[in-house]
Amino acid sequence: MLGVLILVSLPSLVALVPPPVPCRHCCDHLEPEEGSAAQPPAGGFSHVPEVRTYINMTILKGDKGERGDRGTPGKAGQEGPPGSSGPTGSKGTKGQAGLPGDPCKVHYSAFSVGRRKSLHSLESYQALVFDTVFVNLDDHFNMFNGKFLCHVPGIYFFNVNIHTWNFKETYLHIMHNDTEQAIVYAQPSDRSIMQSQSVMLQLELKDEVWVRLYKRERENAVYSDDVDVYITFNGYLIKGSVEGN
Ligand SMILES: *[C@@H]1O[C@H](CO)[C@@H](O)[C@H](O)[C@H]1NC(C)=O
Ligand SMILES: *[C@@H]1O[C@H](CO)[C@@H](O)[C@H](O)[C@H]1NC(C)=O
Repeated sequence: MLGVLILVSLPSLVALVPPPVPCRHCCDHLEPEEGSAAQPPAGGFSHVPEVRTYINMTILKGDKGERGDRGTPGKAGQEGPPGSSGPTGSKGTKGQAGLPGDPCKVHYSAFSVGRRKSLHSLESYQALVFDTVFVNLDDHFNMFNGKFLCHVPGIYFFNVNIHTWNFKETYLHIMHNDTEQAIVYAQPSDRSIMQSQSVMLQLELKDEVWVRLYKRERENAVYSDDVDVYITFNGYLIKGSVEGN
């Protein structure tokens, strides 16, 4: 602290007097008070007897200050590796028996949906989604992703109808999960036409059936408009796998 004060005050002292060499004598009486002479200005004062000022830090040192405020917390460290899995728990108790089933109950599943907007192929495959519902029993057909989800295992009938776009290709598949089952295809033509495809599929619980538009290798499209529904997708259960279904 004191040292800093000295360094700061010296340049102003030097500035008060003319250049060092000619004024050597007239400056002598301006010799700073003892203590602040610890560091003679650069050049010209080397003849002044060396005064060593020793600053005893122990004296300068004040009392211990108050404890500062707590700092803001540091950033969170990296996540550690997962721990090892714990021991297997004990076996639970047997649950209660369910209510007796209804032997006469018949399960149904049926949907019929349509689309009023045309669709062109993109760079990647896309599901044909629908905007019009004719029938959708228990919402087995998901209008958001365009996929029928099997809630009742069994044999189903599916059918898709589209209208082609003149001078464009039409290229769709009926999909069972991620596997193509049947195609709807039409070459580019100056005459647009209705095209359809049907198939029966054996479905298990949670299997999905949907219509996929092929990706744009050659531009392909299906046509529809606001006035009429040109595109439909239909499906229904013919026979459940389990007796009583
Ligand atoms: C500095 O000052 C303290 C307190 O007056 C004294 O005890 C100590 O001996 C001094 N240290 C030196 C090196 O003079
Ligand atoms: C179809 O996908 C569903 C959901 O991922 C899965 O549960 C089912 O086993 C799949 N079925 C077939 C035939 O791959």
